Amino acid sequence: MRAVIAPEPGGPEALKLVETPDPTPGPGEALVRVEATALNRADLMQRKGHYPPPPGASEALGLELAGTVIALGAGARGWAVGDEAMAVVSGGGYAELAAVPASCLLPVPTGVSLIEAAAIPEVFTTVYDNMLLRGRLAGGETVLVHGGSSGIGTAAIQLARRAGARVLVTASSQAKLEAAARLGAEVGIDYTTQDFVVAAREATDGRGVNVILDVVGGRYLARNLDALALEGRLVIIGLQGGAEAEVNLGQMLSRRLSVAASSLRARSVEEKAGLAERMRRVVLPGFSDGTLRPVIDRVLSLDEVAEAHRLMDAGDHIGKIVLQVG
Ligand SMILES: NC(=O)c1ccc[n+]([C@@H]2O[C@H](COP(=O)([O-])OP(=O)(O)OC[C@H]3O[C@@H](n4cnc5c(N)ncnc54)[C@H](OP(=O)(O)O)[C@@H]3O)[C@@H](O)[C@H]2O)c1
Repeated sequence: MRAVIAPEPGGPEALKLVETPDPTPGPGEALVRVEATALNRADLMQRKGHYPPPPGASEALGLELAGTVIALGAGARGWAVGDEAMAVVSGGGYAELAAVPASCLLPVPTGVSLIEAAAIPEVFTTVYDNMLLRGRLAGGETVLVHGGSSGIGTAAIQLARRAGARVLVTASSQAKLEAAARLGAEVGIDYTTQDFVVAAREATDGRGVNVILDVVGGRYLARNLDALALEGRLVIIGLQGGAEAEVNLGQMLSRRLSVAASSLRARSVEEKAGLAERMRRVVLPGFSDGTLRPVIDRVLSLDEVAEAHRLMDAGDHIGKIVLQVG
C-alpha cells in the first residue's frame, strides 16, 4: 500500500509517499480501506521530529481516518466487512490501509460522506473529552475557546452551543472571527489587537468565563486564570505558547479555580474505546440531527500531502484540511 512517512525531520518536502507492506489486522482489530484522512497540528510536529509515534503505532503520519472495513482479525466484534467507519488512530491515517482496534471504530453518521467523516474523529473526540467531560461545561455557562477557527475551535463552538453554553472565541483575523460567528460564537476577540482578559470580563459583566479551552499553554496561563470566573475550569490541550509558566496558587485557591491538561494520542486502547463508546452515544447523533457538522477548509489528494502541510503551516485555513486517499 501507499503511505506517507517523514523519514527525516524537516519541512513539508520531508514527507515521502512510499510503498509499504500492507498491515494485517491483529486480534480485535479491523482492517480499514482508508477513503480519507485529515490533518492535525500534531502531524506538523511529527514531521519536524518533535512528536514521535507512541510505541507500537504506525510510522506513517495521520491521527484519524474514515473508510470501509475490509477484513476482521480474530475476536474483532461489532463490525462486518463492508461497514463504513471512522476513527481516531495513534498513527497511520495517511495510508491506503490501516489496522484499527475494532472497539475504537465509530459508525459514520447518516447523511455524512466518508470525506466529511475524516474530519470528525480527532477534533470532536478531543473537544468532547476536554471541554465537556474534563471542563464540565454546562448549559447556561460561558466558554472561551482559543483559536476559534481551527479544526478544534470549529468543533468546540458547535459542541458548546449544542450543550446550551455561550461561546467567546479568540482568533487572529476578522475573517476567522466571522467564520466562528457563523458557527454560533457570540463574541469574537482578535487576539492580535485586543486583550482577551478584558474582553472576556466585558462580555460577562465582570464575572469572567466558566471554562476555557486553551491551545496556547505556558504563555497564556496567568491570563487564562485572570479570565476565569469563580470555580472556573481551564483545560489545556495545546502548548503552542510553551510548556512552562509560573502560576499564582493563591489566586487559584481563593477563586477555587482548576487547571486540567490532556492529550489523546498516547492513551491505551481501552481508554480510547471508552471514549469512542461515549462519542457514539452522546456526540454522533448531532451529525444526523443537524446540530453538528465537520467544517472543512479544503480537500486535497494524498499525492498533495506536502501542499496540505504547507497550507496548515501557513495557518490561513478555517476548520479542517482533508486528504482524499481512496
Ligand atoms: N491534547 C489533545 O489531545 C489535542 C488533540 C487535537 C489537537 N490538539 C491541539 O489543539 C490545537 C489546535 O489543533 P488543530 O489541529 O485544530 O490546529 P489548527 O487548525 O492549525 O489550529 C491552530 C490554532 O491555534 C490558534 N492559536 C495559535 N496561537 C494562538 C494564540 N496566541 N491565541 C489564540 N489562538 C492561537 C490559531 O489561531 P489563528 O489561526 O487565529 O492564529 C489556530 O486557530 C493545537 O495546539 C493541537 O496541538 C490537542
